[in-house]
Amino acid sequence: MNSMNRLAAMVSLAALFPLVIQAAETKGNVEVVHYWTSGGEAKSVEVLKKIIEKDGFTWQDSAVAGGGGSAAMTVLKTRAVSGNPPTAAQIKAPDIQEWGRLDLLASIDDVAKANNWDSLLPESVAQIMKYEGHYVAAPVNIHRINWLWLNPVVLKQAGISDVPTTLDELYAAGDKLKAAGFIAIAHGGQAWQDTTIFENLVLSVMGVDGFKKAFIDVDDSVFTGPKMIEVFNALRRIQSYLDPDGNGQDWNLETAKVINGKAGMQIMGDWAKSEWSAAGKFADTDYICVPFPGSQGAYSYTIDSLAMFKLASKNDTPGNIAARNDLAKVALEPSFQYVFNQNKGSIPVIKGLDMSRFDSCAQASAKDFAAAEKTGSLAPSMAFNMSTSQAVQGAVFDVVTHFMNDKSADAGKAGRQLLAAIKAAQ
Ligand code: GAL
Repeated sequence: MNSMNRLAAMVSLAALFPLVIQAAETKGNVEVVHYWTSGGEAKSVEVLKKIIEKDGFTWQDSAVAGGGGSAAMTVLKTRAVSGNPPTAAQIKAPDIQEWGRLDLLASIDDVAKANNWDSLLPESVAQIMKYEGHYVAAPVNIHRINWLWLNPVVLKQAGISDVPTTLDELYAAGDKLKAAGFIAIAHGGQAWQDTTIFENLVLSVMGVDGFKKAFIDVDDSVFTGPKMIEVFNALRRIQSYLDPDGNGQDWNLETAKVINGKAGMQIMGDWAKSEWSAAGKFADTDYICVPFPGSQGAYSYTIDSLAMFKLASKNDTPGNIAARNDLAKVALEPSFQYVFNQNKGSIPVIKGLDMSRFDSCAQASAKDFAAAEKTGSLAPSMAFNMSTSQAVQGAVFDVVTHFMNDKSADAGKAGRQLLAAIKAAQ
């Protein structure tokens, strides 16, 4: 039984034993489960909280620490099982569909219609925010995953004059950084961070077509072919440049090592920028962002969205529904989209905003997104739940982590192991 089926079984049990929930006595309350707990991300979510409070509602913050969100998803499942869902939770497609199938999500069609979401959102985004044709989630941003972040001062000290654009150049930069006594690549050894590098390598070595064949079609030949061996060999090589003290480390603590000049580079989605911004640092002068070497032209991405839950009967009051609707409305308002995304490192999800108000990394991201959309080079991230269910994603995490932890693991066999693990989880 996969995790969602297990959840379905538990949810039906929970319906027999509902818990009594205390309703908050305010104009209305929104409780939001999310995992935006790093300095920069907490600052971003604070923007939303302030607007909701200004609108007269109470914001109940249910942040669950843990990058990538696995811990938050576990909490969410437990909450749903005990009949005590939050108002909203940060969930990615296709998990939105899974929660929809369990009949736990609330329609926000009224808000979407009143605020013209169908014309505000790109069609591909609108589609995944709906369950059976009804809006059940409000997207807040687009994060690009295939980025490399660099500290130019450190690069200079290590004698590196050009930013790496190929994997060979990345290795050469890694060698120079190590020789000069720096951590070459800041990296926390957690499954989702390891898998971020793996996913970037798939994009770099196999291109968007190979990426989609692997993570959307689960095409056997991609996993058993020579390119997958190349990917695992590259992963092993990159491993030699990773922070030796990074085991189990949070991503933002690793970003801090690049910010304070201990490390030269980090491979991370653009929420990393939120830490640079929170530290008062600026693109181009204090840090440089470039597409992950070899993945120029491709754009892997994840979309953060707030899925709206049906309220437990005790909480199902007109005030709380008004609060939920306010949350959904605010999420797509231009004024919120500007400030939130400037803090978060992502780009706005609604169309037509003025990108001159953003820094050069966000401008490059928006330009590359539009170009990739035209050429069919958008790659929904596997590591951040855009192309697979949590069960499949978990299987990939396991195989990649095992490979990272066992230095004698055979790159020639890893692809087949990955295929078997994915098939078992599907
Ligand atoms: C992603 C999420 C980002 C960021 C990142 C690190 O799943 O989309 O917003 O929070 O995890 O936790």
